Amino acid sequence: MAQILDGKKTAKQIRSELREKTEKLREKGIVPGLAAVLVGDNPASEIYVSSKAKACKKTGFYSEVIRKPADLTQEQLEQVVQELNERTDIHGILVQEPLPKHLNSLQMVLQINPVKDVDGFHPANIGMMLLGHPSFIACTPLGILELLRRYDISPSGMDVVILGRGNIVGKPLAVLLQQKWKGSNATVTLCHTGTRDVASHTRNADIVIAAMGVAEYLTGDMIKEGAVVVDVGINRVEDSSQKKGYRVVGDVQFESCSEKASYITPVPGGVGPMTIAMLLSNTMKACMMQTGAET
Ligand code: GUN
Repeated sequence: MAQILDGKKTAKQIRSELREKTEKLREKGIVPGLAAVLVGDNPASEIYVSSKAKACKKTGFYSEVIRKPADLTQEQLEQVVQELNERTDIHGILVQEPLPKHLNSLQMVLQINPVKDVDGFHPANIGMMLLGHPSFIACTPLGILELLRRYDISPSGMDVVILGRGNIVGKPLAVLLQQKWKGSNATVTLCHTGTRDVASHTRNADIVIAAMGVAEYLTGDMIKEGAVVVDVGINRVEDSSQKKGYRVVGDVQFESCSEKASYITPVPGGVGPMTIAMLLSNTMKACMMQTGAET
């Protein structure tokens, strides 16, 4: 049976470390501030943004959620971002994705001052990451690396297979894991919808990271004995036995994979809480960079 990589517990530990730093900053009159912009009324986005704001408050940060209607124009959205760029009490800006279809996400991201881009979505930050320079790194990839690090799982020299080439998780994670850094230095294979035989790759992998958004895709017969399995998926599947009519599952079939894996992340309570912890960590970093403070 696999050991659980407990993201909830680890994130709590990280939040407590950040709370200590926040208290020291408060003595100097500095409070890390995060603004989250939510456009429209996507229920999943509403939940994510509320959890992010709640985590900020618990850590002693200032947080502000800016809600805008779904018919917001591109100009109005960019105006919101520009106003946040100007504010000295806001160190981190995030605009929750996905945006309504008529809005251009890339054009919006380009308006965010890269020093406030705590999501690590700005092309300047993505470029710096590709070149191997410290920058803001997207929270989910960063959370996965941090979770592995805190469980003493070093990807160095390992064969890692990532499923999914999305801009938020798969692609940046592939770049990060192959860097010649402590905590990386892996041999990375990125599988996607064009991959001929996914299982032929996953069966040889020491670490499999599933981030393609297909409910319970990775099954026990697709991994090798002792593999480390990281599940990034959050999918709703119909379940009439539940009051809500659905349940949340990952991209990994937990039962069959946990029988063979050495370590596995659960859903919920795995990668999700780590993503939020890294958002806080990036906001703290942004605050220290912008105020010149040290803790
Ligand atoms: N939507 C899904 N994940 C994320 C994230 O990390 N940041 C933002 N802004 N939107 C998301």
